[in-house]
Amino acid sequence: MSRDGLSNATTDGHTDQSRPMSSGDIAELYDEMADCYARLGWANRLFSGPLRQRAFGDASGRVLDVACGTGSNFRYLPATAQLVGVDISEDMVAAARDELADLRRGGTVYRMDAEDLAFPDDSFDTVVSALSTCTFPDPVAALSEMARVCRPDGRVLLLEHGRSDVELVGRFQDWRADAHYQKHACQWTQDPLAHFAETDLTVVDSETLFLGMVTIIEARPTAA
Ligand SMILES: C[S@@+](CC[C@H](N)C(=O)[O-])C[C@H]1O[C@@H](n2cnc3c(N)ncnc32)[C@H](O)[C@@H]1O
Repeated sequence: MSRDGLSNATTDGHTDQSRPMSSGDIAELYDEMADCYARLGWANRLFSGPLRQRAFGDASGRVLDVACGTGSNFRYLPATAQLVGVDISEDMVAAARDELADLRRGGTVYRMDAEDLAFPDDSFDTVVSALSTCTFPDPVAALSEMARVCRPDGRVLLLEHGRSDVELVGRFQDWRADAHYQKHACQWTQDPLAHFAETDLTVVDSETLFLGMVTIIEARPTAA
């Protein structure tokens, strides 16, 4: 599967058979899709804008947006937030920097792997991420990094998607799961809440919408 010769092994050494693409594969795929994502920003806002507002509208302090893509979350973060975005795709990072410029707001966007964040422990008040755990080769590793860089009294806010709890819709997703993954590197039959059991994050609130396909999650670093 790997187009760049990188290993598919996740950071703890295991390979998830349902997520065979490496980070290199995924970066390449999203480099190809960045232009299209940026051009369809208006449609994205129409559909997901209210959800992003609901999930991230009260983010505060120093805010890290993990797998920020084209910066779709930025306009929904309070103007007072000190924003840092990261993404594995160089072209997504470029589009996110354009979005910051268009919004005329400060902030920094870096190319970085969510599973190996180059930030010190406890360095953000809020960590946000949208539609990302479906894509990470190892979502547990990425969530663990979010927990590490979040202050002990901070929050991790996610807007995620997964398998519908309406059986007919869920079965359609099962049927198309491989094809969907090949095209978007997206494991759309995941249960986003299931990853947390293996992390140092405690889910304090969650809300499921749209036939069970969208989940808004608030988590906090688990007290030591
Ligand atoms: C479906 S897009 C979502 C983008 C954005 N968060 C949004 O809501 O529009 C998934 C994003 O995850 C990024 N991504 C995937 N694996 C990553 C990783 N290991 N580290 C950082 N970013 C990653 C992709 O490059 C892509 O921009």
